[in-house]
Amino acid sequence: MTGGLGRLGREFTKALAGRGAKVAVLDLASDGNVEAGESVRHHRADVTVRQDLERALKVIEREWGPPYGLINNAGLDSPPDSAPDENCAFESYSEKTFDRVMDVNVKGVFLCSQVFGAAMARVGAGSIVNISSIYGMVSPDQRIYDYRRKTGAAFVKPVAYSVSKSALMNLTRYLATYWASQGVRVNTLTLAGVEAGQDSEFVKGYTARMPIGRLARADEYNGAVVFLCSDASAYMTGANLVIDGGWTAW
Ligand SMILES: NC(=O)c1ccc[n+]([C@@H]2O[C@H](COP(=O)([O-])OP(=O)(O)OC[C@H]3O[C@@H](n4cnc5c(N)ncnc54)[C@H](O)[C@@H]3O)[C@@H](O)[C@H]2O)c1
Repeated sequence: MTGGLGRLGREFTKALAGRGAKVAVLDLASDGNVEAGESVRHHRADVTVRQDLERALKVIEREWGPPYGLINNAGLDSPPDSAPDENCAFESYSEKTFDRVMDVNVKGVFLCSQVFGAAMARVGAGSIVNISSIYGMVSPDQRIYDYRRKTGAAFVKPVAYSVSKSALMNLTRYLATYWASQGVRVNTLTLAGVEAGQDSEFVKGYTARMPIGRLARADEYNGAVVFLCSDASAYMTGANLVIDGGWTAW
C-alpha cells in the first residue's frame, strides 16, 4: 500500500489488516504511527525512487514472502486551500508543479508496478489497484470553485491532477493485458471527494453537484479495496470500478 499513512491509506490498511492481510505501508512520511501491530509494517519509501522500492521489496520478501497485492494510493493533489501558484490559471500553471504531480501520481505508479508487479508476475499471482479520481474521468467542474473567485482569489482547479489520474486508466489496461497470462490482475478504483473538514462554501458547491448529495466518508471505499484485492474479483481485470456518489452519471 503506497501512501498508507494518508487519510485513505490508513483506512485501506485497517480494512485489509482486519481481513487477515499483512500490509506493508510504503510512505514518504516517516511517521511510523500505523495501527494494527504485527500485521502492519511501515517502510519509509518514496514512490519515485526505484531503490527505495527495491529495498522495501527485499524486506517484505524476506519477512513475509512474495507480495500479493499492490495498492497504488500515494498521490499529490492541490486541494482548495493549497498555495495560490498551485491553483492558478491554466495559462500560467507552472511546469515545475506539473512535473512534480506527474512524477508522483504517474511515474510512481509505473515504478511500483515494475518493482512489485514484476515480483507478483514471477510467482504467478497478484492484484494491483490503481487509485484514481472522478477528475481523471471528467474535467473538474470549475463552477464549484466560484466562491473562491468571488473573494478575489484567481482560483482554478489545476490540470496536472486530472491528467495524472486519467493516465492511470490506461496504465491499468496496459498492465492488465500484459500480465493477464501471469495471474496478475490490474484494476483502477475511481473515487470522489472525501469529507475532511473542508470550507463550508466548497462543501455546498460540491454536494449540490453530487447526485448522492454529500461527500464520502473516509471508510466508504474500503469494501471496494478489499473486493479488488480478493478472489471475489477473480474475473475482473483492466476495469475501472467507479464509486463516486453518482458524480459521473450526469
Ligand atoms: N481524498 C479525496 O477526496 C480523494 C478523492 C479521489 C481520489 N483520491 C485519491 O486517493 C489517494 C489517497 O488520497 P488521500 O486523500 O488519502 O491523500 P493524503 O494526502 O491524505 O495521503 C497521501 C499519502 O501519500 C504519501 N505520499 C505523497 N507522496 C509520496 C511519495 N512520493 N512517495 C510515497 N508516499 C507519498 C503522503 O505522505 C501521504 O501519506 C490519492 O491517490 C488521491 O488522489 C482522494
